[in-house]
Amino acid sequence: MITSETLKKKYIEFFLEHNHKRIANAPLIPENDPTALFISAGMHPLVPYLLGQPHPSGKRLVNVQKCLRTSDVDEVGDSFHLSFFEMLGNWSLGDYFKEESIKMSYEFLTRDKWLNIDPDKLSFTVFAGDEDSPRDMDSAKVWMELGVPEERIYYLPKEDNWWGPIGSTGPCGPDTEIFFDTGIQACSPDCQPGCNCGKYCEIWNNVFMEYNRTPDGKYELLEQKNVDTGMGVERTTAILQGKDNVYETEIFAPLVEAVKSLAGLEELEPSQVKSIRIIVEHARAATFLLAEGIVPLNTEQGYVLRRMIRKAIRHGKLLGVDDEFLSGLAEKVIETYSEDYPYLKENEETIISELKKEHKKFSNTLQKGLNRFNRMARKNKKISGKDAFLLYQSFGFPIEIIIELGEENDIPIDVDGFNAEFEKHQKVSRAGADKRFGSGLADHSEKTVRLHTATHLLNEALRKVLGDQVEQRGSNITPERLRFDFNFHRKVTKDELKQVEDLVNEQIKKAIPIEKCETTFEKAKEMGAQAVFEQRYGDKITVYSIGDFSMEVCSGPHVKNTKEIGHFRIKKEEGISAGVRRIRAVVE
Ligand code: GLY
Repeated sequence: MITSETLKKKYIEFFLEHNHKRIANAPLIPENDPTALFISAGMHPLVPYLLGQPHPSGKRLVNVQKCLRTSDVDEVGDSFHLSFFEMLGNWSLGDYFKEESIKMSYEFLTRDKWLNIDPDKLSFTVFAGDEDSPRDMDSAKVWMELGVPEERIYYLPKEDNWWGPIGSTGPCGPDTEIFFDTGIQACSPDCQPGCNCGKYCEIWNNVFMEYNRTPDGKYELLEQKNVDTGMGVERTTAILQGKDNVYETEIFAPLVEAVKSLAGLEELEPSQVKSIRIIVEHARAATFLLAEGIVPLNTEQGYVLRRMIRKAIRHGKLLGVDDEFLSGLAEKVIETYSEDYPYLKENEETIISELKKEHKKFSNTLQKGLNRFNRMARKNKKISGKDAFLLYQSFGFPIEIIIELGEENDIPIDVDGFNAEFEKHQKVSRAGADKRFGSGLADHSEKTVRLHTATHLLNEALRKVLGDQVEQRGSNITPERLRFDFNFHRKVTKDELKQVEDLVNEQIKKAIPIEKCETTFEKAKEMGAQAVFEQRYGDKITVYSIGDFSMEVCSGPHVKNTKEIGHFRIKKEEGISAGVRRIRAVVE
């Protein structure tokens, strides 16, 4: 039986044999993209390189990338959709194009030495063509040359067979998608690849990124014709194991068993199957988010995390489990992934304590909120925007939970009304956070770049003033400000903040040129470079140095000289969770 670990190993081995270089699995939180909350695809950290910047590892790349798609959270519970997943990807940055890419995919999928999938179980879709780009006969022709019968090639429009950009602008293009027939009964005689009933599972897409979508919605041809592919580890593992859903694979089965035993269940109703799926999927996603220093909050990434944890807790309650159970599941997740992601183990204590804390917070209000919901539903036969907002504000119910309660009880929920109330009451609204997720590319505006270099100076200045034990826990930059999280056990005093600020401004005044070098991760560590995440793979990484003041592993971009930064000012220092502090600062 091929496990997910074997699949990942085979994929990397195959593409290394085809002259690709393995690159690092980037953090889930984008390092230099203030417009997105999470990395949602393997190509996301590669945007500058797809647009033409040379990549230090060359033109053929491969990796395993962890991704989080908030757009799929609501689908979780079906057979294959996940919010958090690992994606296998290979890229050509202006090197091979359609023919070689498709041939490599077919070889990897069907050859005995690799996945050995029966070609008769595979179907393929290609772009049907429209006013922006022609019908992709080139890809169809390659599939046919490989022996694929014409009737298993489907031509679909942009909604199905076009991928990217990540936000509203950037690299994108038509794709060809590979589907596996799970063998389950088709939902209708018209069922075909692209239908979500579970018969056809998309396992891989090859995107031919030869366009750049401009702010006015036009598609310009890029100078460089790229390939970007993505194969979902969990769903491909499932089909290789003959399962028609991801939860029966070794990735989730131990978690599913743990929940069944906690709930004392053997035979499951369909609604219980769904609850268990939501719980285990969200437990895994939450573990990874917490390991990256995200904590449950009411804004941005922290709110996505909070929503997942609370939804899982509510589904636990539906199964009759009131006691805290997510920390036990997190322990299992950490164990499963400890080899590939050693930082999970390193952050185990925080992960467990945050899950317990969030459970305590929510379980205090969950039953009371449910009682209130029932009273509102009985009385009004619907939940108004104001009532939904009350459930959110006073009982901590994310809107998803209120929507679910509405569906379960056949009670309409005024979601638009809720959103209007929310906007009114929140400075940083949930809608704002959601919009951010969906929009934009890596922001390389001048102000953001200045703040980015200032972040490196701040990181080092904190260590000089507070001690070497200080390490970065997260960073987020918008054109207006930088936000920097780090580990420290107490409030930083006014005097210390002033020293940090002065130290940063001193480096700015010294007009130090920023230097960049390419090296391996091991060498960078030997040289004493700071790095947020251990990058165990990836031939070459970039190190940015600011004189002998700072040295960090980072993919840039940065200013050329510190004098470009302007005056640095700390606006706020606060604690965001046990042992983690946050600084907000601006450059003027
Ligand atoms: N290759 C793009 C994606 O699958 O997400």
